[in-house]
Amino acid sequence: MRTKVGIDDIAVYIPRLYVELADENRPEKPTEFSMARKSDPSKYLHGIGIAKMSIPDTYQDSAVLAANAIFELMERNNVQPSSLARIDIATETGVDESKPVAAYVHGMLEQKYGKGSLNRTSGVEYKFACVSIADALESSLDWAWAGRSNGRSSIICATDIARYPLTSPGEPTQGAGAVALLVEEDPRLLAIDPVIGTHMEDEDDFWRPLFSTTAVVHGKHSERCYLRAMEGAVDNWAEQAIASGIINAGPGESLVDHIGPMSFHVPYPKMAEKAFAYLLRHFWRGLPRWKAVVGEISDEPKADGYKKREEFEKAEADYMKRFMETHEFQAEYLDKVADGLVHAKESGNSYSASEKSCLSMLLETKAMRGTDLAGKRGGSGNYGSGCKAKASSWTVQEGWATCAKKFGHAEKLRHRRPVSLAEYEILHEGKPFPDGRKFVAEPESEFVLVDVTSQGYRHYRFAD
Ligand code: CAA
Repeated sequence: MRTKVGIDDIAVYIPRLYVELADENRPEKPTEFSMARKSDPSKYLHGIGIAKMSIPDTYQDSAVLAANAIFELMERNNVQPSSLARIDIATETGVDESKPVAAYVHGMLEQKYGKGSLNRTSGVEYKFACVSIADALESSLDWAWAGRSNGRSSIICATDIARYPLTSPGEPTQGAGAVALLVEEDPRLLAIDPVIGTHMEDEDDFWRPLFSTTAVVHGKHSERCYLRAMEGAVDNWAEQAIASGIINAGPGESLVDHIGPMSFHVPYPKMAEKAFAYLLRHFWRGLPRWKAVVGEISDEPKADGYKKREEFEKAEADYMKRFMETHEFQAEYLDKVADGLVHAKESGNSYSASEKSCLSMLLETKAMRGTDLAGKRGGSGNYGSGCKAKASSWTVQEGWATCAKKFGHAEKLRHRRPVSLAEYEILHEGKPFPDGRKFVAEPESEFVLVDVTSQGYRHYRFAD
């Protein structure tokens, strides 16, 4: 029998600065950001689903965010460096074209655990836009399933700073953060099924050229790529799950009925909500319950019923909105997906770190609420522009709630301060503060970037 392998613990690092896009209690009230961008704060809160976006301070880059998340994970679990076979990093905002973030993180951790303490621990940087976390995790799982771990664990950390040009449509979907996963045999949180679905195409929906610090994006096209790739990956996962007998849907049942909590890549919460709606439509079509939905909101639009592609896309978008308002959709969404999206509403996009950060929020919220998830099967859907999606499933383990209650995720979201628009724009553009300040908020017992030499080499230290 295959060894049970999966996620034993999760640690999230969230920068302590944010820009307020909308006041959640008074969405109609203009914010400094919405006034500057001549936009409606309700569009941020209800249109895309983001209230605040996390902003890194001057001493934070993707390596620092990762090292802080990993250090917390190791300390909380008393992980000895010698017990770690690999510390792999997933990122699309690395700090060097050659030296991986994994090597800089190695160096930072050795400042705490001793020089040479991680010499027998490997590390690599994975890149495929936001989906690289799934690739990194899959590699660690394969290695453990192949029987190569010899009792050692691995850490997978996704870290990113999502940045678009000032005033661009993507700007309100920025954010930053890191999430570290302890991957072990007989995990306390989630045992992952050896069934992973993939869908990949060469697409031009979003990219960041070597000369640019901000991403180029074809926004509306990227949404369509996300939905198409996610559906393809989930179909590929479903074929394998059925063939291997992991899930058997009976008459009148949908595969989704057999999946409880779910987390998706979240560029902004509305996108993940739409992805879930798209999948439900896909899996409910032909079932008795779909007849009830159609009776309520009419038949789905079909492309050949429209002369112009734009007319069909408009009809499709309207239909999606109507479906998302049905009580059938709302019941599933609130039960399975919504709790995790609170992370993205409060923090924005963190690219490769987004899906597992939302999973952390989902598990912590359900644990605090006393929901019984032990033994339930859940699902993860990752998307990376360019483009690729991965779909996987896992079973929640007996000890999950004790573990999830210690994440401290909601507390980290509370322990932050807003920045003014002027501070945000200075940080975004990497300019000096006119009053000579070196940073906005004092570091709090964490790794910081000290300087970057004229040759581009980076120095880090732990600020006590
Ligand atoms: N109140 C409530 N809702 C409002 C509103 C108001 N006052 N004004 C507008 N809205 C709604 C709109 O109706 C629209 O809803 P639907 O999408 O359901 O139609 C929504 O707010 C967005 O408004 P716009 O259509 O005007 O779109 P925009 O020009 O603001 O751009 C975006 C939105 C394309 C997502 C843009 O933010 C963007 O380019 N983001 C970056 C790319 C991205 O995140 N793509 C997602 C898939 S790619 C991916 O997942 C990888 C990744 O991480 C980047």
